[in-house]
Amino acid sequence: MIPDPEKFRNFELAGWQEIPSGYHDAFGPLTRQAIAPLLKAVRLKKGMSFLDIASGPGYVAAAAAKRGATVLGIDFSAAMVAHARRSHASVEFREGDAEELPCGNGLFDAAAMNFGILHLGQPEKALLEARRVLRAGGRFAFSVWAKPEETIGFGIVLRAVELHGEPRVELPEGPPFFRYSDPDECTRGLIVAGFESPAVTRVKQLWRLPAGDGLFNVMKDSTVRTAGLLRAQKPTVLEKIREEMRGALAKYTKGGIVELPMPAWVASAVKR
Ligand SMILES: C[S@@+](CC[C@H](N)C(=O)[O-])C[C@H]1O[C@@H](n2cnc3c(N)ncnc32)[C@H](O)[C@@H]1O
Repeated sequence: MIPDPEKFRNFELAGWQEIPSGYHDAFGPLTRQAIAPLLKAVRLKKGMSFLDIASGPGYVAAAAAKRGATVLGIDFSAAMVAHARRSHASVEFREGDAEELPCGNGLFDAAAMNFGILHLGQPEKALLEARRVLRAGGRFAFSVWAKPEETIGFGIVLRAVELHGEPRVELPEGPPFFRYSDPDECTRGLIVAGFESPAVTRVKQLWRLPAGDGLFNVMKDSTVRTAGLLRAQKPTVLEKIREEMRGALAKYTKGGIVELPMPAWVASAVKR
């Protein structure tokens, strides 16, 4: 349990309110790579009712609707909800908190959360909530990044901060960002929330960004916690971090593009 979940939530919310377009441009092509594995894990079929939790720009919701499900997307950021509505006019999106879903019990056949759980102050509550809104037999799946040694984009920025920056800047304390990057922790979390038959699968993902400062700019302008960490550094330190990141990207650069392995885990389980 973190010391002040409300403070962390407010920090996250303020961050997400600022970046829907930046997130969509930079992360959309990456996080969309987990949609097919998520929908496979929940065995989505035409006619099912489906909930996309922490829906952001609405990628998973839109994909589920395209497959014939009746879909609701929920996100706590009004700006993200507005972005999702503009992009997917025929899908329903609503403001709401993953830790206190504004939905009745047992309403959905399936639910998923794509890269949302690592942004929550109280992820255990969100897992309980996901289970509560499913009908008996319903399936839930969530995706998370693999550890930073494997998700090269995160590894490069964190290493650069470790080498040149102050990693313990004053930011509201949240749960460890890579907590669920361990398949055993995913399984444990699902079981503790009351789910059964957990399964965790690996998803290969590739992130293509402009070479040079592409990764630095994305991390500084289109994330929340990592952006907070970078923006809290002194300008001279930030410049060293930027240089370090450029250097580390050289071996992933082809032409004007960097290609970074960014694997993920998809964890799923059933409510009996
Ligand atoms: C990394 S983005 C994932 C967006 C989207 N699911 C995707 O496929 O790319 C995280 C999303 O979680 C939302 N979020 C963070 N904390 C939340 C909370 N407590 N309740 C609901 N949404 C939350 C943010 O607003 C943001 O849209």
